Amino acid sequence: MPSPALLQTVLREMITRERSPRTPEPDLVMDDPDNVAAYVEAGREDAVMAPVYLFHGANICEVIRPGDTVLDLACGPANQLALVARLNPDVNFIGLDLSEPMLEQARELIASKGLRNVSFRHGDITDLSMFGPDSVDAVVSTMALHHLPSVAALGRTYAEVARILKPGGGIYMVDFGHLKAQASIDYFGNQYADRQPALFTLDYLNSLHAAFYPDDIASAARPLAGQARVYKTFGLPFMVALKSSPRRGHDAALESRLEGLKKGLPEWHKTDLADLIRHFRMGGMRCAPLGNAPA
Ligand SMILES: C[S@@+](CC[C@H](N)C(=O)[O-])C[C@H]1O[C@@H](n2cnc3c(N)ncnc32)[C@H](O)[C@@H]1O
Repeated sequence: MPSPALLQTVLREMITRERSPRTPEPDLVMDDPDNVAAYVEAGREDAVMAPVYLFHGANICEVIRPGDTVLDLACGPANQLALVARLNPDVNFIGLDLSEPMLEQARELIASKGLRNVSFRHGDITDLSMFGPDSVDAVVSTMALHHLPSVAALGRTYAEVARILKPGGGIYMVDFGHLKAQASIDYFGNQYADRQPALFTLDYLNSLHAAFYPDDIASAARPLAGQARVYKTFGLPFMVALKSSPRRGHDAALESRLEGLKKGLPEWHKTDLADLIRHFRMGGMRCAPLGNAPA
């Protein structure tokens, strides 16, 4: 069952007439060393982001196939990438980011896990000219697009994805959606303030303020309209995902590894994962590798 506080937030978002303004991130490209350190800590496998990375990781697994070249836009310290690369040793991943300190962390993490199927490029996700037309099999991105300064920059990014993606390629690009009421932003932003570095809470609040409204995401994503659909978490668009159809069939070995990761989560992480599965499923987005039952 969702908590009473979450139900209250859903209800508020459904009836409010407020439309809180979008405020771009103060640290657009995350190269402040303290911000980078706080983000890295919150992304550890046992820390606050673990259920979110697991959810997005399972969705990414659905849209990629063995032998693929997969580009992760704005990969940051590669927490997400490390999880997915470990689950898919026969897929080649490229992480792209504009922050050198983030890329340094990313290279360290991938090396520490002994992963050989990930490489990194320094670059801007709004200009993918280093990649040719129809040159990658799938494009993924998690919790990063809100760092773009404007809806126009978001549109340029999607247009670049449409250019470099092979026909029938995989897409999973997910980010926070802008909540209408300031009180809802405060609820999510401070939910785990006692379990994470203070700087991460501040960064998270900044992210929620910088998130794009779902309508803006849908209109900016028009270049990808034939290849992916926009899904929102039901009731309140806490997260918005652009996802293509699944590109791989039932994979028992992968599902059992995901099941193991799910079982290994602490109880409060399991609740977060169940909320994400439920809210996206009610918004029309399923994730077969995570199973149909709540976590
Ligand atoms: C909140 S982090 C997300 C990192 C990662 N995707 C994850 O899920 O943990 C946002 C990342 O976007 C990067 N970024 C912001 N603007 C960018 C741009 N225009 N091009 C490439 N990377 C960018 C930042 O440097 C930062 O590493």
